[in-house]
Amino acid sequence: MAMPKKRVAVLISGRGSNMASLIAAAKNDGYPAEIALVLSNRPDAAGLARAQSQGITTAVVDHTRYGKDREAFERALQDVLTAHCIDLVCLAGFMRLLTPWFVGQWQGRMLNIHPALLPEFKGLHTHERALAAGVKTHGATVHFVSSEMDSGPIVAQAEVPVLPGDTPETLAARVLEAEHRIYPQALRQVAETI
Ligand code: GRF
Repeated sequence: MAMPKKRVAVLISGRGSNMASLIAAAKNDGYPAEIALVLSNRPDAAGLARAQSQGITTAVVDHTRYGKDREAFERALQDVLTAHCIDLVCLAGFMRLLTPWFVGQWQGRMLNIHPALLPEFKGLHTHERALAAGVKTHGATVHFVSSEMDSGPIVAQAEVPVLPGDTPETLAARVLEAEHRIYPQALRQVAETI
């Protein structure tokens, strides 16, 4: 008998290209996860319309309504995730730092994608920093989320060459292709094992 598919929420803040790659992968019959929800902290995130056009349920929890109270925002997120019976969370360009409380709720069940070969280049502006450092190889990482930013056990990585003449934009585009390849693979692996 086929295992029931894991119910995944993808959390976004922007364009949602990684979200779209997860939605596309999850359309396959044999894929062990379904995208049950796309949740944005920004009402104007372009990814919301993209998800809706694919028939995916969307929700918004606008962080600006909670002021400085991060936990109140996260409790609202948690209520939505609970209401949709979510098993796994995928952060995909979700631009909020998460408290230990929220991270603890999803220990071993929350993934993030980061546009660098962690532990190199945590944080923002990874492509600029990789070029400035003169590395020959850059890439992308999918990892479990732990309470320290851009840390936590690594699930998948892809290396990408830095080419002569690269700008942050050309490098970002090459890394993004790798992101779109490894995130669905990493989610498959985790959904099959939890
Ligand atoms: C990606 O580069 C991802 O690695 C980073 O934020 C970007 C989000 O892009 N965390 P998109 O919204 O998935 O297109």
